[in-house]
Amino acid sequence: MKTEILKIRSIVSDIDKIRRAGELLRGGEVIAIPTETVYGLAANALDEEAVARIFEIKGRPQDNPLIVHISEEYDLEKLCEDIPESAYKLAHAFWPGPLTMVLKKKDVVPGIVTAGLDTVGVRCPRGRFARAIIRSAGVPLAAPSANISGRPSPTDAKHVIEDLDGRVKAIVDGGRCSVGVESTVIDMTRETPVVLRPGGITLTQLKRVLGKVDTSFEAVGEVRSPGMKYRHYAPKAPVKVLIGGLSDAAEFIKKQSVNRKVAVICFEEEAESFKETGAPVIPYGRESEPAELARGLFDALRRADESGAEEIYAREPGIGEGIELAVINRLEKAAGYNRIILDMNQ
Ligand code: TXA
Ligand code: MG
Repeated sequence: MKTEILKIRSIVSDIDKIRRAGELLRGGEVIAIPTETVYGLAANALDEEAVARIFEIKGRPQDNPLIVHISEEYDLEKLCEDIPESAYKLAHAFWPGPLTMVLKKKDVVPGIVTAGLDTVGVRCPRGRFARAIIRSAGVPLAAPSANISGRPSPTDAKHVIEDLDGRVKAIVDGGRCSVGVESTVIDMTRETPVVLRPGGITLTQLKRVLGKVDTSFEAVGEVRSPGMKYRHYAPKAPVKVLIGGLSDAAEFIKKQSVNRKVAVICFEEEAESFKETGAPVIPYGRESEPAELARGLFDALRRADESGAEEIYAREPGIGEGIELAVINRLEKAAGYNRIILDMNQ
């Protein structure tokens, strides 16, 4: 299949391309679209055949449900029922934006979208191209991240091209994603809302609106969201997270790079020290600016592969209640929870 690349830089001057994307989606095609978080692999959520092709193209396990994207808050009621007051509060506070709410689904949402669950994840993205495309399509869009299953999520059209060129009808190139990690997923069907995946909306922000939230997503081994049990976000070379001080970490990298090719994904602040080890150094943002780390992480994981590294070592930021939680979560999963503790006294 020849993949059309629709490059969009302005809604006004590229309106014909937005219309083209809308027309393809309405016609049952699967196309990649930019959102503020990551690129999505989109199809009409109400068209079972089109949704089935999303799973095929990504190689995604059938038991992992998809998020449905809407352009207007009020469309939530077309897809969901028994919507609690707290969900309206969240929508009011954070939509359009990087928040997905899991709610009881209505019958119009096909079972293939939700992997047979009676709930559906719904999100109203903030990305202006995404919203324009949903509006133009005139239907809600089911869209997982537009990567081959298991690979790092795409935060630039070139990542989507790497994974999906020739496999999809079109890729809408809207430039780099501004958030860079996926939406926060929160289950609103429980008495106390449960965060299933940390993401673009932080715990601090959620607590401000909800008061109490259950954040047991950190619990290892518990599978509440089907997506939690699969290998994720991983480059081809194995990733290990390096825990410890900078000088110990640099010393460790120097030793490792004697016998094989290793790459380091680190903070800007640490780049100079790691460069002295001779290994390829890929800074992904400043540790003092977690939003930069979020924007840069997935690209850094892909670039580490391009460097030809056989092993990738990564530095992760200190834990808090901000977007660094999403960064840590993605890195730990990319590493399959593989960590190297450098200082045994820590
Ligand atoms: O930012 C995002 O959310 C991006 C963009 C494209 O919008 N999409 C995305 O989709 O990350 P995906 O499919 O890669 O991740 C969706 C996550 C999975 O972990 C899935 O298991 C969970 O949301 N999920 C979806 N529906 C659910 C449901 N009904 N109950 C529990 N978890 C659900
Ligand atoms: Mg994904």
